[in-house]
Amino acid sequence: MVATGTGNQSGKAFYVTTPIYYVNDAPHLGHAYTTVAGDVLTRWRRQRGEQVWFLTGTDEHGQKVLRTAEAKGVTPQEWCDKLVEEAWKPLWRHLEIANDDFIRTTEKRHTDRVREFVQDLYDKGEIYQGGYEGPYCVGCEEYKLPGELLAGEGEHAGKQLCPIHKRPVEILKEENYFFKLSEYGDKLLAHYEANPGFIQPESARNEVVNFVRQGLQDLSISRSTFDWGVPIPWDDRHVIYVWVDALLNYATAVGYNQNQDTFDATFPADVHLLGKDILRFHAVIWPALLMANGLRLPGRIVANGWLLVGGEKMSKSNLTGISPRDITSHFGVDAFRWYLLRAIAYGQDGSFSWEDLAARYTSELANDYGNLASRVAAMVGKYFDGVLPEAKADGDAEKAIHDGLAKAVADADRKIGDDVEFQAGIQAIFDFVKQVNGYISDQEPWKVAKDDSPEGRARLATILYTAAESLRAVAVLLNPFMPASSQRLWESLGAEPALGALADQRVQDAGEWGRLPAGATVTKGAILFPRLEDKPTA
Ligand code: ME8
Ligand code: MG
Repeated sequence: MVATGTGNQSGKAFYVTTPIYYVNDAPHLGHAYTTVAGDVLTRWRRQRGEQVWFLTGTDEHGQKVLRTAEAKGVTPQEWCDKLVEEAWKPLWRHLEIANDDFIRTTEKRHTDRVREFVQDLYDKGEIYQGGYEGPYCVGCEEYKLPGELLAGEGEHAGKQLCPIHKRPVEILKEENYFFKLSEYGDKLLAHYEANPGFIQPESARNEVVNFVRQGLQDLSISRSTFDWGVPIPWDDRHVIYVWVDALLNYATAVGYNQNQDTFDATFPADVHLLGKDILRFHAVIWPALLMANGLRLPGRIVANGWLLVGGEKMSKSNLTGISPRDITSHFGVDAFRWYLLRAIAYGQDGSFSWEDLAARYTSELANDYGNLASRVAAMVGKYFDGVLPEAKADGDAEKAIHDGLAKAVADADRKIGDDVEFQAGIQAIFDFVKQVNGYISDQEPWKVAKDDSPEGRARLATILYTAAESLRAVAVLLNPFMPASSQRLWESLGAEPALGALADQRVQDAGEWGRLPAGATVTKGAILFPRLEDKPTA
């Protein structure tokens, strides 16, 4: 059996990665989707008290990036530097992505280690020289099998198209170096068999298993018709295939062949997040490369489905790319982060729609959640001068809320933290928000407030404490998704003096009833989700 990452080996961080994205263009919504997912998983696990290492970065070599730079009339390095600094890193800061590192494949810390890794494979007899001719898609940076190509129509009539990019493939013929991937089929199948959770979701796992069962071809791991890449150490007429170069980022960024302690404390990844377009690279080639060099395999490969726009995979090459900033400038960063994971089941395809986002923003964020928070704060202000009262009259209605919260926490933690099923986790949290709204409507605190007797006051105190304490837990659970509005709620509840910083709150404790102390200073604070102005839809 091959060892895999677990995240609970002593001293090892829980290691989460996103793909490293091509810098042929600025990031679009699809890139933001996977990166936000990684960030939410990271923040959730951190709130469990775990040590998490979250890596993202950019894939800068290869023909795709080279051709873009040539078309712009600059060197590929200049192009990459500009895009990384002016587009990619600023977007991740804007979206509050809490990555620990950002790896660029043109960095020396990466290129030196890639050469060593490939040299090791060569020394072990895993690489040989050969020739290959076949259809190549530059969009995918991959040789395609003739059987998977589509027949072109219209402007592409008579040509064969890449099924992902819907653009003509090129026939390439080269003398290359090959990695003996074909020898790893059985070992990979045995690994999938022994580790049923290795590839997620089930549909992705089935696709990979079927693909590997058909038999694997050896993999061309060098290119010689252009030089924008890492030279093959023993033959510098060739550069290393961009996918081998790129996959190795997950090792080179955490100290491979450089800092053994860091490497042992981080590698392998517990969760590799990626889109299903690049599933085979991660679930077949990457583990085979690791096996070939005697390294541990990752814990899980989790593939997201495609964000669709007008029924097509959103991408720059299909001209359907949407800039995340167009959305955040209207809805805010929090709603953007939340919506992507709320609207689409992670692992399945789903359409991005401005109208759906606007509708959910208004009904779920502004009305269900935001209004609840502002009403509770307003009532504590009005009836108790902003000092959170004590709950002295808990009854069945309160008991149901306590139970509802405990269930929401357990469900959300399992779905988000363990299963990487964000939508189901958000659902659990918002079901609880709905339950608290129902509780308020049923209890009618504004009517109870008219009763000045000690019993009436005790009842009112209990209702408002119950609502505020529920919101305390909701702030903790939503913090990984929506850090800015959760912080506003945390402040409005006056939670920090007694409980400490929001990010330090443990998921494990979130369901424990009665953490927010009576006497906390509740203030109305800023509105969590302001009404959308009537801007024209983009
Ligand atoms: O493939 N829907 O980079 P890339 C969902 N450099 N996710 C999407 C998406 C969409 N419409 N569009 C993009 C590469 N993504 C390689 C990766 S990793 C060692 C090398 C996301 O810039 C999704 O995660 O083409 C997808 O796999 C990734 O962006 C592809 O980014
Ligand atoms: Mg792509």
